[in-house]
Formats: sequence, C-alpha cells, structure tokens
Amino acid sequence: GAAELGPYRHYMQKEIFEQPRAIADTLEGVIGIVPELFDGQPREDGTHVAAWRVFKEIDSVLILACGTSYYSGCAAKYWLESIAKIPTQVEIASEYRYRDSVPNPRTLVVTITQSGETADTLAALRHAQSQGMTHTLTVCNVATSAMVRECELAYITRAGVEIGVASTKAFTTQLAGLFLLTLALAQSKGRLSEAEEARHLKAMRHLPAALQAVLALEPQIISWAEDFASKENALFLGRGLHYPIALEGALKLKEITYIHAEAYAAGELKHGPLALVTSDMPVVTVAPNDALLEKLKSNMQEVRARGGVLYVLADADTHIQSEEGLNVIRMPEHYGELSPLLHVVPLQLLAYHTACARGTDVDKPRNLAKSVTVE
Ligand code: G6P
Repeated sequence: GAAELGPYRHYMQKEIFEQPRAIADTLEGVIGIVPELFDGQPREDGTHVAAWRVFKEIDSVLILACGTSYYSGCAAKYWLESIAKIPTQVEIASEYRYRDSVPNPRTLVVTITQSGETADTLAALRHAQSQGMTHTLTVCNVATSAMVRECELAYITRAGVEIGVASTKAFTTQLAGLFLLTLALAQSKGRLSEAEEARHLKAMRHLPAALQAVLALEPQIISWAEDFASKENALFLGRGLHYPIALEGALKLKEITYIHAEAYAAGELKHGPLALVTSDMPVVTVAPNDALLEKLKSNMQEVRARGGVLYVLADADTHIQSEEGLNVIRMPEHYGELSPLLHVVPLQLLAYHTACARGTDVDKPRNLAKSVTVE
C-alpha cells in the first residue's frame, strides 16, 4: 500500500534507492572469501552439500537465466574468465532447454533467478541435470523457491521483496553474489592471493557508500529523461564488462517506457546500427575508465560525425566533457571490476524518470509479469 512507499512515488523508485541497503545486507557477515558461502541449504535429514567439494571438481561454468537475470550472468562471465580463469558460457534458459548441447559433467551449472520460479530457468536446470550435470548452484532471492530446493548449492541474495516488474535491486545483488562466487571459485583453484582477496573485500564493503553517491546523480538523470520522453528509439552502447550493462539499460527503458531501445557492443556499431543514427535517436554510452576507453571514444566520434546525440555516463578521469550533442554525467568514482554495479544505477533511474514523464504504469508495465511461471 501507499504507506510502504514512504517518500517514493513507485515501488521501482523505492527499490532503486534501496540498493545500498540491499548490497550491505547481501554482504553482511562476509568477512572473508570462503566456499561455505555457497553451501547447499540444509535438507530434512540435516545434511547439505559442501561447496568446496563441488568447486574442486568443476572445470567450467554454464550460466542459465532469463531477462534481467540473464544480463547479470553475462557480466559474471567476464569476471569468471578474467579473475577465476574458468571457461564460462551464458545461455538464455529457453534456448538451452531445447537445444542439442554437449554436456560436460565437470561443469558447474549456475542458474540466476530473482523469484526462483521462472518456468524456463527451472526447465533448463532439469535439462542440464537429465544430461548428467549434477553440480548445480543457484543465485536466487527467494530461499523457499523451487529453484533453491532443486539445486545442490545456493546463494541467497538479500535484496528483500521486489515488487516492481522491472528488476533493479535484484540485479545488483545478483552481481554482488556472482562476484563473490567468482572469488570463491578463484580461491578454490588457488588463483586468489591474500592481497587480492583483501583488495576485493575492501572494494565490496565500500559499495553501499559508492551506490549512495551514484543515487545522488538523480537530478541530472531527470534532465536527461526530459529529452528521452519524446523519443521513440534509443541506442545503448558499452564494451566488455559494461556491454551487459548497456543491454540491461535498454531492457529497462523498453519495459517501462515502451520506447524501442537496443543495446550494441560498441565495436559492432559500424556493422549495422550506425545506419539508424540521427538526431532523433539518443545514444547512451556507458564509459568506464578501463582499457577500452580510447576505443569507446572513437565509437562516440562515429556517432557524433553522423549528427547523433550522445548521453555518456563517464567515469571520473575519462576527460570526456559536455559539448553540443554530447551530454555527460560524471560518475563519482572509478570502480574497477565492480563498476557494473554502479553504472547500471543511472540507467535504472533514466528508465524510471522517462516512464514517469510519459505517464506509463511504472510498476506494472503492459503485457509483462513479475514472475513468468508458465512457458
Ligand atoms: C520477468 C521479469 C523480469 C525478470 C525475468 C526473470 O520477465 O519481469 O524482471 O528479470 O522475469 O525472472 P527471474 O525471477 O527468473 O529472475
């Protein structure tokens, strides 16, 4: 009811602003990286599966999910391969379940699901199990769900109840859980030094404060949303670890504003979407200060040269300045591997405020359901 909304107009806005708390809760009690964080839920007979045994046995990861949860999996692939050095595949659950694939019994099957009840993700899990892949782990927000019951191991995110159909705090807590999983796997394989562990833990503990600083950008996002409200198409660009964030930003926008939005890996721009660029199609660019920054800047130049209008989320020291046709919001800090958790927040707010400006039903967008429990 209205009382629970407090100062917020919609659940989605409330849930966006709950993210510092949700991340703090998800990380509460994490004093070191240990496989036990991912142990199985206790069974009726009191036993449960120990994650360290499973982590010792696996040599690859297969991530299965739908919707926003699929995009958190896409980001996790970058972490799992670069930090834990574990070959990782990410697959849309509804594709995997009907595809002939080559099972590897030494794969850790990771399902990601807010609800734990999505029909396609459950079916994909059962398909993997039926092919002899017994090592399964879920990153899930509902401890009592079917998914948690059916997986060997579980990591329960503590986002709290999410009501808005468009997922926000569930996504960032999934990312936090998947980053911890990456570190735990790296450690099990002897690939995480104590110094690295300490560095990552420190960065994770600072996340709630860092998220708070990003939420303070809301007034600047509102002014972007005023521009977006009258548009019918938008393009989102990102590279590397932030390509999935561009995908998630585009998904948020289409779900609740009904503006057609597409995300592209920035390097693919010239293989198609550049043909669509006009001053009528805003181009949102996620620009962290990473190794790909110079490449991204030349992609932005390609857009400007065609009269496209850029909206750039630029990290602190990227030296990208606002000018005609180039709107910059500066992110408070440069956050390395965990940067996706911060860059997604302005994109959530952009979708939210654009939807408000267009007067759509933010928490219950047409034709969509919070949890898709039938195929
Ligand atoms: C629906 C929701 C999305 C969600 C997706 C997967 O489409 O509207 O917000 O990302 O289902 O749901 P899950 O509960 O499996 O994460």
